Amino acid sequence: MAAASAAAGPWVRRAGAQGAPVKIGLVLPYTGVYAVLGESITQAMELVFARENWTVAGRKIEMIKEDDEMKPPVGIRKTEKLIDSDKVDILTGPVHSGILMGMRDKVHNSKTILIVSNAGADAISRERCSRWIFRTSFSNWQPCQPMGGWVAKNVSKEVFQIAPNYQAGKDMMAAFRETFVPAGGKVVAEDYPKLGETDYAPYLTKIKQSGAKAVFAFFSGSDAVNFVKQYDQFGLKQSIKLTGAGFLTEPDVLPAQGSSALGVVTGHFYTPLLDNPTNQRFVKEFRDKFGGKMPDGFACQGYDTAEVIVRALKAVNGNTQDKDKLVEVIAKLEFDSPRGRFRFDQKTHNVIQPFIYVREVKEVAGGINNVPIDKVADVKDPGTGCTLPA
Ligand code: BEZ
Repeated sequence: MAAASAAAGPWVRRAGAQGAPVKIGLVLPYTGVYAVLGESITQAMELVFARENWTVAGRKIEMIKEDDEMKPPVGIRKTEKLIDSDKVDILTGPVHSGILMGMRDKVHNSKTILIVSNAGADAISRERCSRWIFRTSFSNWQPCQPMGGWVAKNVSKEVFQIAPNYQAGKDMMAAFRETFVPAGGKVVAEDYPKLGETDYAPYLTKIKQSGAKAVFAFFSGSDAVNFVKQYDQFGLKQSIKLTGAGFLTEPDVLPAQGSSALGVVTGHFYTPLLDNPTNQRFVKEFRDKFGGKMPDGFACQGYDTAEVIVRALKAVNGNTQDKDKLVEVIAKLEFDSPRGRFRFDQKTHNVIQPFIYVREVKEVAGGINNVPIDKVADVKDPGTGCTLPA
């Protein structure tokens, strides 16, 4: 740390001690289908920054929140505003894969450090990666690829796939097939309703008539509430096992889904039931601060994003001017996260998941939750080719 501050020079040392606030720009949905995701991410970031008294390495932390309204053109406009007008030091968000893809060139060309706190677009860990982009959440591939082989072995070899019609849905369904088909699985049919669909009856009719023995689904936010409830009301729950990506039954939607979610099996890197000490402390502090709300995977992502920012700022003594140094420091960070040991893949800047848990929604002491029933260790996106050009 002393070396970093000496190398930074006198101006930066003053800035580190009493300089301008560190501006963190958030591009997140605070309205629309994924509003609850944006809220969880923001709350957990606030929890970590409050722990630091909103001051790191002598600099105040200032969060500038922008609602992307779940619309790519709005997300891109807000990104430009945060970079060009607010001159943020670090950018975080978004939730929606399409918005991330739209932001990517502006972030890369302006050499702005972006810490992706949700959107899983696989391409950002592969052909569209950038040395300025880190991801603390997941690639869409990560929670779904291990589920294909698991479902084929333990549930059924005849599956109907369903997800919203945009990049995240397509990425996740493809990742599932990577291990499902080689394990002898057959995708009986697939369908892609629009993001924000409220009436799934036509899709549920198709599922019923398809002859599939199981469904693999990705929905999140209010889409997940509507799909899981209507699946149950339609009478499919008993006859066609519902499985999916973990977002389908996260604690942000479980209270609204209620007993309709019982028995649903999903893959994810987190459940608030993990018994490591960091998670136990996180669950308690989060629930105390936010009226008993149970943290979900999105909150874990917000926690890790803020933790990365705090640790990086401390390591460079508050000097956010030297972007190359900041990138170098962030890439090497390792710490105990609520999900387990956190570290980035050096080739892609995407988080390596300590585990992907296969979880089943069960009634456990204190309510309905995702109980781990199996797990796969060290799940790393297969992206390899990125040379992380400047
Ligand atoms: C996405 O668009 O990447 C996404 C949105 C919600 C949950 C998971 C992924």
